Amino acid sequence: MADIVVVGAGTMGRGIAQVFAQAGDKVYLVEVDPRQLSLGLETISENLEKSVQKGRITPEQKQSVLSNIVALPDIRQVPSADLLIEAIYENVEAKLELFSLADELFPSDTIFASNTSSISITRLAASTSREDRFIGMHFFNPVPVMKLVEVVRGLKTSDETCQKIIDEARRLGKEPVVVRDFPGFVSNRVLMPMINEAIFALYEGVASRDDIDKVMKLGMNHPMGPLELADFIGLDVCLYILDVLYEGFRDPKYRPCPLLRQMVAAGKLGRKTGSGFYDYL
Ligand code: 3HC
Repeated sequence: MADIVVVGAGTMGRGIAQVFAQAGDKVYLVEVDPRQLSLGLETISENLEKSVQKGRITPEQKQSVLSNIVALPDIRQVPSADLLIEAIYENVEAKLELFSLADELFPSDTIFASNTSSISITRLAASTSREDRFIGMHFFNPVPVMKLVEVVRGLKTSDETCQKIIDEARRLGKEPVVVRDFPGFVSNRVLMPMINEAIFALYEGVASRDDIDKVMKLGMNHPMGPLELADFIGLDVCLYILDVLYEGFRDPKYRPCPLLRQMVAAGKLGRKTGSGFYDYL
């Protein structure tokens, strides 16, 4: 059993907290927004309740997992940490600020990991004095279901840190894949151009929304069509990642579709706002 700090109780943070708590770790779930924190705990409890209903775990096991999670509003209240995983919103400045504070708070042997979907791990690591003990641990939504953890090696990440995080991912029942620190890593470098292309196809009137999704679901066996998946991820997140790819490679093939930019400007961010390519209300 280890002490794990998860910073951020949004969709990803709460999922990450759940899988570590299920593995028997003590999880300090840190979130400054009280509403988000209680929503995070509620979601974890509901997920576990579904497992109880399906007969996969007992009510006692559910309670034991929940008791492994300590919710805190301030990172300064965390008593100890073997591993810190940052899962706050995608904003470089906010992440740099968090990591430089955490660097002062935690002993030098605490490993720092970021769940960022596209920001450079090397850049984030440089805000700390432990660049060798800094790594990307990129989970996928919904975290309790998706098998992959993309392990992102920064320029100075040590072999020892990388091996520890590979072992951690396996301990959670996940499959780790190690990638180098380039824009979008592998997952989003491949996924986002597909989503962007689907949006261009819609924008250019090649086919309807439903038919574009149907092509990928029935023709390629994807569980969700690309437009449905974009709504699931969040259109603001998709736009952010495409901008990182476009900036990082300076290659026009990553330019975000104007329709995506327009939808984000209009606040149509997908499932989380009740409306994106589809309506959810
Ligand atoms: N949390 C926990 N468990 C969930 C869940 C959630 N939010 N949503 C679904 N599940 C579980 C269900 O309980 C069910 O569990 P069971 O098989 O043990 O009974 C199982 O997942 C299947 O769920 P459903 O039967 O309700 O629905 P589907 O079969 O349609 O599956 C899905 C739902 C797993 C979300 C599937 O549609 C899917 O795999 N979609 C694609 C998801 C994907 O691509 N994710 C990656 C996004 S990219 C990302 O995260 C990276 C970032 O950097 C952008």
